[in-house]
Amino acid sequence: MDFRMNSPAGKAILARARNGDYAHPGEEEAIAAAVDGLPRERIHRLLDVGCGRGGTADWFWRHGWGEVTGVDIDAASIEYARMRYPGVRFLQQDVCRMERPQFQGFDLVYLFTALYAIPDQTEALRRMRMAARPGGILLLVDYTRPAAQPPPPELGPEIGNPIEFETVGDTLAATGWKLQTREDWTPRFAVWYENLLERFARERDWIVDTHGPDWYGYVTGWYEALWKALGARRLGGTLVRATTREPARFAAEPFLPLIHGGEGAEP
Ligand SMILES: C[S@@+](CC[C@H](N)C(=O)[O-])C[C@H]1O[C@@H](n2cnc3c(N)ncnc32)[C@H](O)[C@@H]1O
Repeated sequence: MDFRMNSPAGKAILARARNGDYAHPGEEEAIAAAVDGLPRERIHRLLDVGCGRGGTADWFWRHGWGEVTGVDIDAASIEYARMRYPGVRFLQQDVCRMERPQFQGFDLVYLFTALYAIPDQTEALRRMRMAARPGGILLLVDYTRPAAQPPPPELGPEIGNPIEFETVGDTLAATGWKLQTREDWTPRFAVWYENLLERFARERDWIVDTHGPDWYGYVTGWYEALWKALGARRLGGTLVRATTREPARFAAEPFLPLIHGGEGAEP
């Protein structure tokens, strides 16, 4: 049995518990908070990287943000998303292999808990920079870990490679982005995962009948461990916003006033 939350069965269980095709904590509440204050009038073409089953991409399309493209490496998720959400263009695509001209000129590139799952994050960020227009925005909601510490071992390989909150500005700068703000969302993540655990309990019969008792044991055990790691701050959550770092010839491009709140821009 393929016990992974990023497997098609894992995503289906999460979608049921979350009452929508979301595989990130906080579902629509997290999306609304993440986009709060973005210069919406400058955003017309959006790229959802690691879009999964497509619920988030559809949220942007339904809320009138413009033309949305969702990419994911997982063929089953893309097939599902295409059937379910015809307003969005979905492509099976490894972010690290995105090429021009298919991927260029996006006003907003966003990821909801997807970067942690991509082994080569540097290459992924470079390709996303290539796909963004000058002055384009990067929005990241993701797991974090304390600097120079491994992710909690009890979460196994499923937790992938959470980003380092302290050094995310350097990582972005090295890949053509300029950090605008980073917010510590660890307390929010903890509340959202506590809610999710309650919803698994409510959906117990459906999970057991559809996927078997071993799946129920796996998801509840894994998310409880994740929730405890958040409480102990061995794992965290963040909202990061960045804009493209332009070479000198783009200096005339007006600075995008991004946000209120947050921890403040890097110099
Ligand atoms: C936790 S899910 C999040 C899905 C979606 N963003 C959401 O919030 O519902 C992470 C997603 O990243 C995708 N992914 C992992 N590596 C990828 C890669 N190299 N290129 C594109 N997608 C990738 C996985 O297939 C998975 O669907």
